[in-house]
Amino acid sequence: MTKEHVIELMQVSKQFDGKYAVENFNLAIQKGEFVTFLGPSGCGKTTTLRMIAGFEMPDSGKIMLDGQDIGQLPPYKRPVNTVFQRYALFPHLNVFDNVAFGLRLNKVHIKKKGPDGKEIEEFRKYTEEEVFAKVNKAIKIVDLDEFEKRNVTTLSGGQQQRVAIARAIVNEPKILLLDEPLGALDLKMRKEMQLELKAMHRKLGITFIYVTHDQEEALTMSDTIVVMKDGLIQQVGTPTDIYNNPINAFVANFIGESNLFNAISMGPNTIKFLNQTYEVPHSFPEQEKVDVVLRPEDIEIKPSHETPLKAVILDRIFKGVHYEYSVMVGKNELIVQDTKLFELNVEVSLYIDPTLIHIMKKERVINTYKDIPLNDKNQLVFDDGLIDVNIAQLLDGSKVSIEGFLLSSKNIKYDLKNLKVSVEIPFHAIELFGDPDMGQLVGFVVQSYYQGDHYQLVLRTESEEDFIVDSEYAYDIGTKLGLKVDTSKIKIKAKGDLNEYEV
Ligand SMILES: Nc1ncnc2c1ncn2[C@@H]1O[C@H](COP(=O)(O)OP(=O)(O)O)[C@@H](O)[C@H]1O
Ligand SMILES: [Mg+2]
Repeated sequence: MTKEHVIELMQVSKQFDGKYAVENFNLAIQKGEFVTFLGPSGCGKTTTLRMIAGFEMPDSGKIMLDGQDIGQLPPYKRPVNTVFQRYALFPHLNVFDNVAFGLRLNKVHIKKKGPDGKEIEEFRKYTEEEVFAKVNKAIKIVDLDEFEKRNVTTLSGGQQQRVAIARAIVNEPKILLLDEPLGALDLKMRKEMQLELKAMHRKLGITFIYVTHDQEEALTMSDTIVVMKDGLIQQVGTPTDIYNNPINAFVANFIGESNLFNAISMGPNTIKFLNQTYEVPHSFPEQEKVDVVLRPEDIEIKPSHETPLKAVILDRIFKGVHYEYSVMVGKNELIVQDTKLFELNVEVSLYIDPTLIHIMKKERVINTYKDIPLNDKNQLVFDDGLIDVNIAQLLDGSKVSIEGFLLSSKNIKYDLKNLKVSVEIPFHAIELFGDPDMGQLVGFVVQSYYQGDHYQLVLRTESEEDFIVDSEYAYDIGTKLGLKVDTSKIKIKAKGDLNEYEV
């Protein structure tokens, strides 16, 4: 730990009901840094903040402040203050008294030299002059100088949030924690407050740890962004790092608008997606499926004959500096930003600079398939075959009637033919047969990794659907095998409303 690290979290974990809310969180934050925890709801942002504030104790790991372990310090002894989304101001007090409230309760801890030259410690209340000076300073920082005497209930949402911020900074904490502080404000107010918070950060010079699920907010305000998912840090970096070099598809998708494709590595420095091959700076093992991310601003629209990547423009929105186009390439819809004006419904071609293609390893822990339709025999209709599935899992307390309809606990009948579902199949739920006719699907081994006690195989069907399978046995690449899926282990979720399928 170097001197500038004001706070450091070391392998911090916290579980609720046996589930990790925060897992093995490692982060060192520098003095004066503006750090943002960014991630979807439930990813563990608030829990991490509460552990820093001392409202929640980690199950394991350490939280170091200026090199000291503060794990056991109660919240009020930590030089930290929190601003919440729901600011609880005192409605009967004016702005000044709201900000002064905590100060007047606090005692100051003073060390001074006694008459005999020895150091003595003293606790006393702040004098009203001290309160006045501190409150005025805080009120100035949040730009409410003219409003000291106003009753807080007469203020706008944005102004009330400023009072809450003033209240949190009046004690001069080393670290200000802000948990979605602008979440309750409307868009315009939020944008204004973002800039103002940034200005306050500069004026105060203290460390800000900011929580948001809004990627734009994180990109605008932060020195460092910590992207989180399911309690785990995905990536730590500057806004430009994270935007330009997302480490995986989750980060890419979460940060900024992007086009995400399945691609296949065709050998050294070559990948194929949207039916085109591109020479790229990175290499992946041959036949490996990877994720490709293309930013809308990295795709250029050209006249139809210029590149082999043919597209049709569906829609266009003027965004001030550029147009945002929605274009179709075969069955894929892409978002493209271009400053030039193009007509709708005409064929164009797209140019992609290969150095701007972001390629990421797929991180799959389970086979997932989107938008798989059901047929009238309660089977999943994959392009290459049918797999039986238990549809009763779509509705709590339901069962399947003799005719094959789904019956709710209240005896409402559903015909789920053509309903699209997302499907999850664990790697170990697929059995492989040397005789291709023994399974529901047929695939070829395209990859095989030895994983210590078993092989992990990737089987690809005729229509290029991949199934990852855990297998005791090794198979040669190219072997044709039958895949049999254990119906009891398939999980499905309905897309859309089941009520539309009521009969
Ligand atoms: N006090 C608690 N008791 C039980 N579960 C909790 C508690 N606090 C948070 N969780 C769970 O921990 C996970 C992370 O929550 P949280 O840190 O609030 O996420 P975020 O702030 O990113 O939305 C969620 O699954 C949430 O339901
Ligand atoms: Mg939260």
